[in-house]
Amino acid sequence: VLPSTVRADDTNFVNKMKHGGKNVIVFYGSQTGTAEEFAGRLSKDASRYGMKGITADPEECDMEELPQLAEIENSLAIFCMATYGEGDPTDNAQEFYDWLQNGDADLSGVRYAVFSLGNKTYEHYNAMGKYVDKRLEELGATRIYEVGLGDDDANIEEDFVTWREKFWPAVCEHFGVEATGEDVNMRQFAVEIHEDTPKEKIFSGEPARLGSFRNQKPPYDSKNPFLAPVIVNRELHKGGDRSCMHIELDITGSRIRYEAGDHVAVFPTNDPQLVEALGTRLGVDLDQVMSLNNVDEEASKKHPFPCPTTYRTALLHYLDIVSPPRTHILKELSDYAEDPKDKEFLQKLACASEEGKNLYIEWVAKDHRDILTVLTDLPSLKPPIDYLCELLPRLQARYYSISSSPKLYPSSIHITAVLVDYQTRTGRPVKGVATNWLALKHPTNGIKPTVPIFVRKSQFRLPFKASTPVIMIGPGTGLAPFRGFIQERHFLKKEGKEIGPTVLFFGCRKKAEDYLYEEELQSYCMDGSLSHLHVAFSREQQHKIYVQHLIKQQKEEIWELLEAGGHIYVCGDARNMAKDVHSCMTDIVEELGKIPRSQAEDYVKKLHTKGRYSADVWS
Ligand code: FAD
Ligand code: 2AM
Repeated sequence: VLPSTVRADDTNFVNKMKHGGKNVIVFYGSQTGTAEEFAGRLSKDASRYGMKGITADPEECDMEELPQLAEIENSLAIFCMATYGEGDPTDNAQEFYDWLQNGDADLSGVRYAVFSLGNKTYEHYNAMGKYVDKRLEELGATRIYEVGLGDDDANIEEDFVTWREKFWPAVCEHFGVEATGEDVNMRQFAVEIHEDTPKEKIFSGEPARLGSFRNQKPPYDSKNPFLAPVIVNRELHKGGDRSCMHIELDITGSRIRYEAGDHVAVFPTNDPQLVEALGTRLGVDLDQVMSLNNVDEEASKKHPFPCPTTYRTALLHYLDIVSPPRTHILKELSDYAEDPKDKEFLQKLACASEEGKNLYIEWVAKDHRDILTVLTDLPSLKPPIDYLCELLPRLQARYYSISSSPKLYPSSIHITAVLVDYQTRTGRPVKGVATNWLALKHPTNGIKPTVPIFVRKSQFRLPFKASTPVIMIGPGTGLAPFRGFIQERHFLKKEGKEIGPTVLFFGCRKKAEDYLYEEELQSYCMDGSLSHLHVAFSREQQHKIYVQHLIKQQKEEIWELLEAGGHIYVCGDARNMAKDVHSCMTDIVEELGKIPRSQAEDYVKKLHTKGRYSADVWS
C-alpha cells in the first residue's frame, strides 16, 4: 500500500463526488463547530431537492481540484465560512485562504454560495465569508445566491435559517429542480452496539487518538492533548460573591513551548450529575458501549465523535449538552414527542416563520434552555439516546490567554479564569462547563488532577525591541496576557536590558474584591518593570469609572508614547470595552494630534495594520 496514493485519493473530492453520485459539496471553515454543523444541515437539505450532498473539511481536501467541480453536472459548492479572531480564517481554512489569495485558478463553470459566520462585536465582522464570496467571483465562479451573514452576537441560528429559506428556492430556480415535497428524515449515523469490546479499544474521552490519554506521546496538539497536572488552583478575588481562579499547569517533560500572549486550550468535561440526569430521563444504560457509524461510506467523517465509546463518555466528553439546542435539533426531536401538543410546539419552535423565531428566542435562547431542561419541560418527548447523540454538537475546547511568561515559568502555564455562574430569568442556575470543572481541580495530598491541554500560537506579541513603549489595557480577566508581558519585561530588566515605558490600565469593580494580582502588580511597579499602573474601580463611587476614563486622563502620556512608536494592546471583553477603548484612542489622536476625525481614524487604522494596535478579545 502506498500511503501517498491513499492520501491523494482521500483528498480528491471531485473524484469522491463522482464515485458517490454527489453534486453538492458543502465546505466548512469551522473553529468551534457551528460552521461544520450548518454545513451538515445544508448537505442534508440537498436531498429534499433531489440533489446529493456531502460535507468537506477544506484542510482534508486538495482545494486545487475546485475548478474540476464544473465537470460534474448540476454541481454546486457551498461554503460555510467562519471568521476567527481579528478577521482571520479558521485553522482548517488557512491553507484554502492562502490558495485563494495567491492563486489564479480559473473557476468558470463552478457554481457557489457562501454562508458566513461572524460576530458583530468584533471589528472584522464576517471578513472571511465576505472575502471568499468576493474572491470566488473574481476567479470566475458563478454566485447563485447572495452571501448570508450570520451574527453570533445576536442569533446566528435565526440568521442561518432565514438565509436557508431563501437560498434553496434560488438553487431550484438556477438548476430547474423542485422540492420533492418529502421531508426526508435521513439519519447520517447508524448505531452499532458492542458487547465484548476490550477496554483498550474503547475511547474514554480522548479527542482523537485512541489511547492517547493512557499513553502520552509528544508532540501535543488539538488531536493529541497533553494531560497537564494542576499544581496550583487558588482564588484571586478577596471578597464579593464571584470567583476568579489562578491555575498553574505543569508542562514539565511535555516539550510544550509557549510565548507570552499565546492561548492555552482546555478540553473540559461536562458535569457528571447532568449526564446522570440525562441518562435517567432517557431511561438508558449509560455504560453501553456503542459506535455511531456514518451510513455514507464515502464520507470522510466516519463517526460524529470518537467511537466505540459509551454513552456516558460521549455525554461527558464529546457532546455539548448545555448550549441551547438549535432549531434543527428541536425539529428532529419533534418526531419523538408522544403528545401531539408537544410535537406541534417543537415544530413551531423550529419553524422559520416570525412566530417560530420569536418563540425560539423567548423559550429557548432567553432562558438558555439546555437539552435536559427541554426534555424535562416536555415529558412526552422520548428520543432514542443514539439519535440525540448524533444531533448534539461537539463539546468544544475552551481557550484561555496564558497569564505567564516562559522566561519566568518555563515549566508551567498559568490561567486566569473567572467562574461562569449565573441564573436565567426563571431562576435556573447556569454553570459554565469549563470553569466549573476547573474549579474542582485542586491538588490535594500530593495528588494532582490533570487537564487535557494544547497551546495555540497567537499574534499577540510584545514588540520585538524591549525598548519600545507598550500601553496595555486589560480590565477583568483581560489582565491575563499582560501579566505574562510584564513578567517578560521584568526578566529582561533583571538581565540588564534596557526596557521601554511599560504602562498598564487595569479595571475591576472594587479594590477589596476583584483587584487581580494586586501585590504582584505593586511589586512590578516598585522594581520598575511596570512604569505606570492605572486602576479603574468601577463600583467604588456613584458613577462608573472605567479604563477608558483613566486613559483620557493620561492622554498626554499616551500621545507621547504613540508618537515615540509605542504599541497598544487591548484584552478582554469584545462586546463593549474593546470598542469603547478604540473610540477613546481615536479621540486622543484627534485632540492631541490636532487633526480631523477622519484622519484620526486613519491614524488608528494604520496602527492596526502596522501591528502596533493589537487586540485579544472575546465575548
Ligand atoms: P460555558 O459553558 O461556555 O458558558 C458560557 C455561556 O454562558 C455563554 O453562552 C455565555 O454567553 C453565557 N453567559 C455567561 N454569563 C452569562 C450571564 N451573566 N448571563 C447570560 N449568559 C451568560 N476567559 C477567562 O476567564 N480568562 C481568559 O484569559 C480567557 N481568554 C480567552 C481567550 C480567547 C481567545 C477566547 C476565545 C476566550 C477566552 N476566555 C477567557 C473565555 C473562555 O474561553 C470561556 O469562554 C469561559 O471561561 C467560559 O467557559 P465555560 O465553559 O465555563 O462557560
Ligand atoms: P462594571 O461591571 O462595574 O460595569 C471588569 O469586568 C471591569 O470592566 C469591571 O469593573 C466592569 O465594570 C468594567 N467594564 C464594564 N463595561 C466596560 C466598558 N464598556 N469599558 C471598560 N470597562 C468596562
